[in-house]
Amino acid sequence: MTSKRVFSGVQPTGNLHLGNYLGAIRNFVGLQRDFECIYCVVDLHAVTVWQEPAKLAAQTREVAAAFIAAGIDGEKHIIFNQSQVSAHAELAWLFNCVARVGWLNRMTQFKEKAGSHRENASVGLYVYPNLMAADILAYKATHVPVGEDQKQHLELARDIALKFNHDYGAEFFPVVEPLIFGEATRVMSLRDGTKKMSKSDPSDYSRINVTDGPDEVALKIRRAKTDPEPLPGPDAMVADGKVDPAREAARPEAFNLVHIYAALTDRTVGAVLAEFEGQPFSAFKERLTEVAVGVLGPMGNEMQRLMADPGHVDAVLRKGAERAREIASPVLRATQDVMGFLRP
Ligand code: TYM
Repeated sequence: MTSKRVFSGVQPTGNLHLGNYLGAIRNFVGLQRDFECIYCVVDLHAVTVWQEPAKLAAQTREVAAAFIAAGIDGEKHIIFNQSQVSAHAELAWLFNCVARVGWLNRMTQFKEKAGSHRENASVGLYVYPNLMAADILAYKATHVPVGEDQKQHLELARDIALKFNHDYGAEFFPVVEPLIFGEATRVMSLRDGTKKMSKSDPSDYSRINVTDGPDEVALKIRRAKTDPEPLPGPDAMVADGKVDPAREAARPEAFNLVHIYAALTDRTVGAVLAEFEGQPFSAFKERLTEVAVGVLGPMGNEMQRLMADPGHVDAVLRKGAERAREIASPVLRATQDVMGFLRP
C-alpha cells in the first residue's frame, strides 16, 4: 500500500475566501514537504448545484491560480481539475453501489444545502460524498487535509473503504486519515459568528475573498460584527490549546476574529489573547487588517497575474491531469478486477 499520499479538493464555485485559505489551502502548502500531494479543482462537485457554463472555466482557473499563488508546486506535486480524469466519475458509480442510503441520509451538509427544497435538489448533491470518496481512493490517498466542515464526509469515505474491503475480502483501499489542523479550522461569517464563512452567503461582507484588495479587506474587517466588550485574556483557554466552549459560544464573533488573527500570524490563540487582553476591538481590527492584507495582498496579486495568463494555468492542469490519470487508472482497473468485471 502506498505510504503517505495526500489528496484534497476545492470546488470552483467562485468567491474563494479566507476560510478556504486558512482551513485548507494553506495547510496544503505545508504538507508538500513530507507527502506526495495531489490537489484537485473539483469541477464535478461544483455542478451538483447550478453553475453558469460561461463562468465555470474561469472559476476553475481561479482555484488553480490560488493553489499556485499560495505556494503549491505543480511540478513536484499534482494540480489538476477533476473532470479531466474520468476515473473519478467511474469509481464514484461503483461507490454508489457500496454506500448505503442510510449513510447519506445522515449527511448534515446535504440537509443544509438542500434546505427545505430537498425534493428539488440534484441527485448529484445527494451522492456528492460518494464522489468525494472516489476522489480520494482513486489515488489510494492516506491523508486528507480539510476544514472542519468536511469531517463527516471523510468519515463516510472511511466507511466506504471499510465496507468495500470487507465485502470483497480484500485489504484494498486505505482507511483515510483526516488532517484538520491550525487555529482556523472553522472560520465563521464576519456578520454572524454562528454561521461558517461560505462562498454562497449572499452578503459579500460575510467573507474576505482571497482576491479582495486592501481597501475591501479593511472595510470588511471594520464592519465585522463584534460586541462592546474588550478582548478576553488567556484565562478563556482550557486544555489542549482550545478556547472554553461556553466562552466562545457567548462571544462567537469576537473569538472568530481572534482565531483568524492567530492563524494568519502563525501563533496560538492563547498567545494572541495574552498580547491583546483588555484592548478594544477597534485597535485589534486595525492589526488584523494589517496582517490580512500582508498575507492576502501578495497572494491576490499573484493570482491576478496567473489568471491573466490562462495558457500557463491550463498547461499546469493538463500536465497534472496526465499524471493523475497514470495513478488513478490502474487503481480503477484493479477495483473492477476485485469486483469481478469482465475485461476481455
Ligand atoms: P469546499 O470547496 O467547500 O472548500 C474547500 C476547503 O475549504 C474548507 N473550508 C473551510 N475551512 C475553514 N473555515 C471555513 N469557513 C471553510 N469553508 C470551507 C473546506 O473544509 C475544504 O477543505 N467537498 C469539498 C471538496 C472536495 C474534497 C474532495 C475535499 C471534493 N472532493 C476530496 C477533500 C477530499 C468541498 O466542498 O470543499
